[in-house]
Amino acid sequence: MKRISAEVLSSRTFGDHQSITIVAPEIAERVRPGQFVQVAMPPDREFILRRPFAVAKASREGGWAGTLEFAFRSQGAATDWLGSVRAHQFLDVIGPLGKGFAAPKSRTTCLLVGESVAIGQLYFLAEELRGQGKRVDMIVWGRSQGDVYKPIEGKRLAQTFALLTGDGSMGLRGSIEQALPGIAERCGSDVIYAAGSRSMLRAVARFAQEVHIPSQVAVQESMGCGWGQCFTCVIPMVRRDGAHYDNVRSCTEGPVFNSSRVAWDVWFPPEPARPIDAPSPQGADAPTDPDTVDGQAAGSPGSTSMEGDVR
Ligand code: FES
Repeated sequence: MKRISAEVLSSRTFGDHQSITIVAPEIAERVRPGQFVQVAMPPDREFILRRPFAVAKASREGGWAGTLEFAFRSQGAATDWLGSVRAHQFLDVIGPLGKGFAAPKSRTTCLLVGESVAIGQLYFLAEELRGQGKRVDMIVWGRSQGDVYKPIEGKRLAQTFALLTGDGSMGLRGSIEQALPGIAERCGSDVIYAAGSRSMLRAVARFAQEVHIPSQVAVQESMGCGWGQCFTCVIPMVRRDGAHYDNVRSCTEGPVFNSSRVAWDVWFPPEPARPIDAPSPQGADAPTDPDTVDGQAAGSPGSTSMEGDVR
């Protein structure tokens, strides 16, 4: 883990998202797909915590050696500020942080499944897998055309590229859950990697378990520190005995996890069934995607009592 002052090489807009490329050779040479960086906010702002961003690309060779890219969607004061950053400004960056995706040793046909801006880290993974001679197929989803991050990258990297949007403005209209079984069967996928909202990750985990395909998921939990000190980022992981779970820090034990070890129903309890006419308990102004986080701190650290029973 390094802390550096990184010069911004470029800041670009892709639909609803922005990507920033920084000069960071110390981090770029060691970062793996699935890992993240923590970016400091300016000292004169009211938001004092760093914000975590998954690395979407690292260039270690050629004319732009030593750069890395991360992407985000402006949805709060911190990302609004970051969106205003321009080339030649400097960012205070710590990384690489966390544990990334593990490449399969013997399996060769990899299905990568991603939503919205989280797709970026899967493009990074796809580059690495292809470099190891693996076959890469992808399913990519966005709410609308603008929410699909760099689809041209996916087309370049994937042998089969399935593009879906919630409103049908690009690709097919539908959901990842609908497309996953057919694509996995057609491609003969023998390992699945996923990044996106909790609900999508859980659906991928369920499918993978049903068809006995190993899968790894990159979670997007709120993070205060990013290196194991504050416990704002814990998620429940089933113990090897299968009967209990431990809350583990996604910043240090993850953010990539074996999906079969996540205690999904503890972490993300299914909503109780309610009468069809009953109003949503979150009200009409509730955000449409509660899973998407902006790296906002989760408030004060939670209890450090880190045990429980699996439901
Ligand atoms: S973000 Fe502080 S412990 Fe994980």
